[in-house]
Amino acid sequence: MTDKQKHPKRILIVDDDQIIRDSLCEFLRLEGYQCDGADGFHQALKEMEKQRYNLVITDVNMPEADGFELLRVVRKRYPEVVTVVITGYGTIESAVEAIKIGAYDYLTKPIVDDEIRMIVNRALEQQALIQENRNLKDQLRSQFGLENIIGHDFKMLKVFDLIEAVADSKATVLISGSSGTGKSLIARSIHHHSDRMEMPFIEVSCGALPETLLESELFGHIKGSFTGAVSNKDGKFLAADGGTIFLDEINSATPGFQVKLLRVLQERCFEPVGSNETKTVDVRVILATNKDLQNEVEKGRFREDLYYRINVVNIELPKLSERTTDVPLLAESFLRQMCKKHGKDKTSFSDEAIHYMECYPWPGNVRELENVVERAVVLGKHQQISAQDLPQQILDQARHDAPATFTRMSLREALEEPEKKILEMALRQNNWNRQQTAEMLQINRTTLYKKLKRFGLEADPMANSVS
Ligand SMILES: Nc1ncnc2c1ncn2[C@@H]1O[C@H](COP(=O)(O)OP(=O)(O)O)[C@@H](O)[C@H]1O
Ligand SMILES: [Mg+2]
Repeated sequence: MTDKQKHPKRILIVDDDQIIRDSLCEFLRLEGYQCDGADGFHQALKEMEKQRYNLVITDVNMPEADGFELLRVVRKRYPEVVTVVITGYGTIESAVEAIKIGAYDYLTKPIVDDEIRMIVNRALEQQALIQENRNLKDQLRSQFGLENIIGHDFKMLKVFDLIEAVADSKATVLISGSSGTGKSLIARSIHHHSDRMEMPFIEVSCGALPETLLESELFGHIKGSFTGAVSNKDGKFLAADGGTIFLDEINSATPGFQVKLLRVLQERCFEPVGSNETKTVDVRVILATNKDLQNEVEKGRFREDLYYRINVVNIELPKLSERTTDVPLLAESFLRQMCKKHGKDKTSFSDEAIHYMECYPWPGNVRELENVVERAVVLGKHQQISAQDLPQQILDQARHDAPATFTRMSLREALEEPEKKILEMALRQNNWNRQQTAEMLQINRTTLYKKLKRFGLEADPMANSVS
């Protein structure tokens, strides 16, 4: 069986002229395609709702609504479907018009077999490319899609709403949050939700380089502009043309660099170092800061005008300790990722391990949690990850946390609650027999009586009579 027979492509022929419709269908079926006919706009859309077509061939002049109308709707609702129009002899203008709307090609009446064979082949090749492209896009989307950003806490839900709302616009976005809260992840995800997704996403850390190097890194330089500039170099802004540039750690930009940044943000143009030729770019700018920028402005460390220029849409990422309900979800998700990465087969965390993780304040936020899970997956000896597989500081922290809730009281007062619990358990275990209870606890009967009185434990609360 040939591939064509196994996976026949589906073609829809739309023409109000039944003879043309039927003869085209018959011809294409003989060529090995699955082919249906529709007599106009409405029937065509009905057929398309019923099943997926690879190609739609439509007449231009039809009574209900012309082929252009159909082209517009198909393009919008089914962007993966390729369209070809049939025009009357000598009406080349309408063919041009159709192509402008998005038709892939046109056929002129009378239709010649060889011509249709060639055009259908080419159109279907085009459709396969579109499909492949879509699959790649889907893959990228699922890699950077919102479904991979974990967060059920309402603070995160607000973040997701913001991402969806701003992704397609060109608005500058400022992401603020401590280290490891997911700023870089969110920046990427905004890019991958925008219509620029197929264009470059360029990431630059403004804290990593000294001012002069950073300037040449971003704007490029010309040969000889400084020692070491042995040839012309394009900068990151040019590389990001049409796409997104992500300026990370913007809070550490030097005053001189802040001035240059202000200009490029205002005018989207700049000059490479050592050049007086102005370059203009179409870039979406996303920035991240791990310090409160407003505070930096107040302290005189960040330019106020630049702050207002970049603070158009602000996404604030909460610390992990402010959304502890997400800790188990993130841990589970990292567990699956890390098992895959390291070829391990761990199933879950023990309740105790989860409890320790929920109590820990995570100064390194999600990144720290990710590392902790990776370490446990690699080093853990058992299928289930238990508290022993967690780093010491997490276990210690939870223990340190206990006295944090300790309010001022004497040792005797502090021991009351645990003592009462122990007495209750011992009594229950001995069926409220006081002699046996006293023996078990290795205290004399009188001491036991006194204690029971103090705690109001003289009688079994479940029994009607005193033993
Ligand atoms: N909400 C989240 N869901 C899943 N993974 C996350 C989330 N936030 C952060 N991460 C992961 O944690 C790590 C640190 O995130 P990153 O974006 O680099 O933080 P930042 O840029 O704020 O320092 C990355 O591996 C990232 O994929
Ligand atoms: Mg980062």
